[in-house]
Amino acid sequence: MSHSTQTPPPTSPAPRDIAGALAKRVIGQREAIQEISISLSKKLAGLSVGNLLMIGSSGTGKTTLMRAVELYLEETEGLAMRSTVVRMHANVLGEEAERGRPGEAVLHRLLERAREQLGPETPVEELLERARHGIVFVDEVDKIRSQVGGKPNTLGIKAQEALLTVMENEAIPLVLPTWAGSRMLTVDSSPLLFVCGGAFEGLYDSVYDRVTVGRDRGSLQPVTTVEDGQVVEHLLFNLREWLRNEDLFDYGMSPQFLARFDSVVLLSDLTVEELMHIFVKIPDSGYFQAKSYFESRGFRLALSKQAVHRIAQAASTQKRLGARALKEVFRRVIRDYEFDPGAAAQDGIVRIDVPQVEAALKKG
Ligand SMILES: Nc1ncnc2c1ncn2[C@@H]1O[C@H](COP(=O)(O)OP(=O)(O)OP(=O)(O)O)[C@@H](O)[C@H]1O
Ligand SMILES: [Mg+2]
Repeated sequence: MSHSTQTPPPTSPAPRDIAGALAKRVIGQREAIQEISISLSKKLAGLSVGNLLMIGSSGTGKTTLMRAVELYLEETEGLAMRSTVVRMHANVLGEEAERGRPGEAVLHRLLERAREQLGPETPVEELLERARHGIVFVDEVDKIRSQVGGKPNTLGIKAQEALLTVMENEAIPLVLPTWAGSRMLTVDSSPLLFVCGGAFEGLYDSVYDRVTVGRDRGSLQPVTTVEDGQVVEHLLFNLREWLRNEDLFDYGMSPQFLARFDSVVLLSDLTVEELMHIFVKIPDSGYFQAKSYFESRGFRLALSKQAVHRIAQAASTQKRLGARALKEVFRRVIRDYEFDPGAAAQDGIVRIDVPQVEAALKKG
């Protein structure tokens, strides 16, 4: 990397470095990691950044990615003291919006967090400065849709309004918390970076319906291939290609709310290889739990690579659970061994290969 003599060296980590750190905790999801790393790099350099909306099926890593960013900022020297981050569930916002002024809850949390970081002696002005430059993760943002099954969802509407108030607003009236003196003032919260994420269950099906049998029927043209001498027609559907803002309006996210996002990032469903990585690399996976358990009883767990592949494959058929299916599948595989490790162990080693996995899965 070369910088001209006029340009000062960058004061924030490069997107590539941030992405490298995040990829230690998040498997796959390259696009989402890239987007978030770029935003973070800009944000840490004090530049203005647009908000991000992440959409991806359940269990594909949205919360894991948010958590990875929090940990990265906490663990990286020089960044911990420079960034104030909060992560909250969207539906809490609805409840909090019923009390107090809209948007106030978000700023109060940021203030609390800044105070934890900088210490209770820090002047309120300084805490406010930190808070309004913070990063806010809003998880499960799909839960605040304005309607569910045709009926209005009051808490959702309130929560969207609360977020609207605090996103890109140059003058929010705010009453300081009691510990900060309960004063009323006006805050410019426009520097805040919001990263919202949700599974938006049902979105995939509704977009598919729109382009096949619904409003835009016929848009998705079948692809013709020849297989074994037979002409076969396939509908290749990819949400990334077909998702429009209107689909999110229909889902119950208001146009004003969506207008606050610069980009929408779609997380991919996890492949069998990615599931294998998660299983053997991510410390909270069922594999590591079982490994420690066997060790605690004086045994070693030896799981062959093929067995891991078979487990990941079984998990990948349960699309609605994402990586959470790994735990479910592995429970079925490991239960009998955990119950009586001695019965299966040879020389203190519990060996599990494909036949053992097959047998356990067949048993259910
Ligand atoms: N891409 C991934 N990389 C690493 N671990 C993952 C990934 N996706 C899922 N996991 C693992 O699966 C579990 C569930 O993932 P996570 O909570 O991130 O899902 P989510 O996308 O937030 O789902 P939901 O929409 O249901 O909240 C976690 O324990 C996590 O370790
Ligand atoms: Mg989640």
